[in-house]
Amino acid sequence: MLSAQTIARVKATIPVLASAGPAVTQHFYQRMFAHNPELKDVFNLSNQRSGRQPAALFAAVAAYAQHIENPQVLAAAVERIAQKHTSFVVKPEQYAIVGKHLLATLQELAPDTFDSDTTAAWAEAYQFLAGIFIDREGTLYAQHKAAEGGWEGERAFRLAAKVAESEKVTSFYFEPADGGAVMAFEPGQYIGIKVKPSQGDYQEIRQYSLSAASNGKGYRISVKREDQGLVSNFLHDELAVGDEVALMPPAGDFFLDTQSQAPVVLVSAGVGLTPMMSMLETLAQQQPGRVVQFLHACENQIQHSFKARQQELAKAHGVPLRYWYNDQHGLMDLAPIRYELPLADGLFYLCGPIGFMAAIKGQLLALGVSGERIHYEAFGPHAEL
Ligand SMILES: Cc1cc2nc3c(=O)[nH]c(=O)nc-3n(C[C@H](O)[C@H](O)[C@H](O)COP(=O)(O)OP(=O)(O)OC[C@H]3O[C@@H](n4cnc5c(N)ncnc54)[C@H](O)[C@@H]3O)c2cc1C
Ligand code: HEM
Repeated sequence: MLSAQTIARVKATIPVLASAGPAVTQHFYQRMFAHNPELKDVFNLSNQRSGRQPAALFAAVAAYAQHIENPQVLAAAVERIAQKHTSFVVKPEQYAIVGKHLLATLQELAPDTFDSDTTAAWAEAYQFLAGIFIDREGTLYAQHKAAEGGWEGERAFRLAAKVAESEKVTSFYFEPADGGAVMAFEPGQYIGIKVKPSQGDYQEIRQYSLSAASNGKGYRISVKREDQGLVSNFLHDELAVGDEVALMPPAGDFFLDTQSQAPVVLVSAGVGLTPMMSMLETLAQQQPGRVVQFLHACENQIQHSFKARQQELAKAHGVPLRYWYNDQHGLMDLAPIRYELPLADGLFYLCGPIGFMAAIKGQLLALGVSGERIHYEAFGPHAEL
């Protein structure tokens, strides 16, 4: 446990960090990549460029210091980050590297604030938090290894099929190159994929939600081609049936609660429907009697992936489907259908752009849905809605 003095010293630096803003995180990543260029194969450099990720590390350490007295708040964040770290195969020894550059950055940028006492307090706080992550990630790695069909870290998979689902989304079916089984996953979870696109200088790791129910034999992901996107364009244009990639075991804390019988509402926009397809298929297989609705928004009809499959599952299991094509129907608006939604007891699963999810969450809260029944996944660095 950290002493009250250590917590007070770390907390006292938060205003300094906040006023320094992105400069601190930029300095940190530049420093770390200059000294440890091997980490360029681990971090998503596009997220670095966009500035979406760099703030996360410092924010997490500072938030941790701030909420140290309230472990409930931290537990959910630690779980989400640890799950994501495993999909990058973050290793225990890398915590020392990150910690070293983090402390050096603080001292280099604000030498007056980060005297030896304050730096020592930060070192202690960092070490404590790193220990929590290392423990949790160690447990997850051991569970991955022990699971039937499981493995630790990277495993070679072969592309078995590639199927276009709409104008911009294509599904990729992977099977293990060793011919073995694959571990089960929860509907909503994602895998990490590591590839070396010919356009880039480094190996790249990305996360993709599994877009079909768990079947023990292989995994399906469905990827949208992004403008200037390194990995999505590589997968669409270069990866051919028979080629191998490395996959990391399924991870993530956003998944359908299949123990519950509560009504479910799946709400997606664009390619955010991938985890919903896995949930819908799993519901059809495992809980055919559960009350489910599927609400989906996309730009127009030709961007609508999996339409036929959704309709087939919906028809077989009595699931109402509602679509908003933005060019015809405008944005998703829940007010007109509020009497048909299980506002009092339903579980709501959201996936799509941050702006979309924030708008839907706002509508749900206004309709009286409690925040803890609203779950969501961001297809990038996590954001609070
Ligand atoms: C948990 C999770 C689940 C996900 N599931 C899915 C899924 O099911 N399906 C899916 O399609 N995606 C999913 N994603 C997103 C996916 O991981 C990738 O982020 C996405 O495919 C883009 O990767 P990329 O390498 O193609 O693009 P990147 O190269 O990472 O670029 C991302 C964006 O940055 C911008 N950019 C990059 N380089 C430049 C440049 N030089 N100049 C200007 N702008 C630039 C572009 O707008 C580009 O679209 C998920 C992400 C997470 C975290
Ligand atoms: C105590 C130390 C650490 C903290 C507090 C921390 C915190 C975070 C946070 C908050 C995120 C964003 C999670 C999200 O998007 O939901 C993240 C992502 C990530 N972390 Fe860590 N982390 C730590 C250590 C490490 C280490 C040691 C490594 C490995 C070198 C690492 C590699 C990554 C990577 C690769 C990502 C994803 C980045 C991206 O999406 O571009 N982290 N971390």
